[in-house]
Amino acid sequence: MDHKAYIAQRLHVEGVSPEEIAGCIVVPPDAGMGDLALPCFKFAKILHKSPALIAEELARAYPADEVVERAAALNGYLNFSLNRTGLAKETLDRIEDEGSKYGSSDMGRGKTVCIDYSSVNIAKPFHIGHLSTTVLGGALYRIYNFLGYKAVGINHLGDYGTQFGKLICAYKHWGEREEVERGGIHAVNDLYVRFNREATEEMEAEAREYFRLIESGDKEANELFEWFKRLTLAYVQKIYDRLHITFDSYAGERFYTDKMQPVIDELKEKGLLVESQGAQIVDLEPYGMPPCLILRSDGASLYATRDLAAAIYRKNTYDFEKCLYVVAYQQNLHFRQVFKVLELMGKDWAKDLVHVAYGMVSLEEGAMSTRKGNVVWLEDVISRCVEKAFAIISEKNPDLEEKEAVAEKVGVGAVVFGALYNSKIKDIVFSYDKALNFDGETSVYVQYTCARANSVLEKARGKGIAWKGATASEPCAQEFDLLKALAEFPDVVRSAANAYEPSIVARYCVDVAQKFNKFYIDCKIMGADSDMVRAFRLRITEATLTTLTNALTLLGIGVPEKM
Ligand code: ARG
Repeated sequence: MDHKAYIAQRLHVEGVSPEEIAGCIVVPPDAGMGDLALPCFKFAKILHKSPALIAEELARAYPADEVVERAAALNGYLNFSLNRTGLAKETLDRIEDEGSKYGSSDMGRGKTVCIDYSSVNIAKPFHIGHLSTTVLGGALYRIYNFLGYKAVGINHLGDYGTQFGKLICAYKHWGEREEVERGGIHAVNDLYVRFNREATEEMEAEAREYFRLIESGDKEANELFEWFKRLTLAYVQKIYDRLHITFDSYAGERFYTDKMQPVIDELKEKGLLVESQGAQIVDLEPYGMPPCLILRSDGASLYATRDLAAAIYRKNTYDFEKCLYVVAYQQNLHFRQVFKVLELMGKDWAKDLVHVAYGMVSLEEGAMSTRKGNVVWLEDVISRCVEKAFAIISEKNPDLEEKEAVAEKVGVGAVVFGALYNSKIKDIVFSYDKALNFDGETSVYVQYTCARANSVLEKARGKGIAWKGATASEPCAQEFDLLKALAEFPDVVRSAANAYEPSIVARYCVDVAQKFNKFYIDCKIMGADSDMVRAFRLRITEATLTTLTNALTLLGIGVPEKM
């Protein structure tokens, strides 16, 4: 049950809807204050009364029942105590019932959310800078699907631009078919880097000509371009597989080549296009922004032009309720401009476009630079983390079976979790050692907790002990703390979606793992005083495993059975 909604239904605050009230209810940091609390400060203005008085009046009117035992006012807060036995039963029944679906919902039924993420650049390195967009987008994609939405994952490929002319030129001068085929994206990138370092004026002119040839549909130039694209996508696919990332569409910038003219015509028709120094722009000065460049003076389109066409195309094709762009905060201005232009064009759905901005990821060792070829490739970060995970696991548990498979889950998980644990807008410095710390706020810690739960359950199964449907009299403090946390999961998933913030799920995993470990240490599970209590504790253990597995899966992190 969603206790916040349950309580909100039973409270009456003039002019505030139950949904709004539910949104205000929090879990107090100190359980002594109650299990849930409603701060009444917000209502003081509306009701023209002091928060303390409002809380007291609400407390007096609240109808306690077998779900909420007590509502008490304290310093402007209305604190609720839940019935422990009732909460335990209800939570465990529900988790047992729903299993891998626990936490899901149908709130998104019939609604579509487009998510633009990862959006790789063809023939360019797939580096650590792409980690956040890829795993954040992937997590949001799974979270929205879990909530019943139809999520459409879009890889808006960077496959348009003069760099492809340069690449073809470099290949023509220095490249060799077999060598590039063998070297894949690395060989392609080397050519590009070499061009930027060594190209003469003449070659620059040639490169412009090759770009023009791609644009005009020249067969050879397009074949080369498609080849580079194939090599890049084959390469990134391997990484997507390791990260459990999927897409529904790879319509990139080039896809919009023939869809820009109608947008330009519409801008003209609506009187939004103005000429400035030979270029065509939309003036955004009244909105405090530099102009949005639509066509350069040589008639070439821009990144923003293609994003305008893409947004319109997506609306027409998917009729999205929301369209998310998981892109670094460096592009804040770009998206503000694009969204504003669409609004000026009269697209009332422009308000449904959301730039989900995130901060930079760097490695502890030092900064990275893409221009000169000394790039930190994402693949190398993942492989290194998996290698380190393998070494740690081998040392801790030399007899473990399938060490490679476990190390893959642990190492990949550590990279993913490292990018998802902090609020997305923060810049993060990734450290292998911190990410692989078994006692830290890490995925390894959570995975280890799952393995621990699993091993208790295995042991019980081995002894023929059953726990399905088990109930106990009132849960003790550790059990109740854990059960309360488990009951919150559906709410956590919803909050993560509403805030576009998978870190809410990541932090929740650590919180539940900590509570489980406290329970595991303080309460004897297999050695409980009675069969009834033992079965109850096993049931809590299984519910924890189910919940943590569901949460980690949403983040794209695998759960090893043993560690
Ligand atoms: N390829 C772009 C980059 O690496 C990101 C594209 C983001 N999506 C978009 N619709 N603009 O910067």
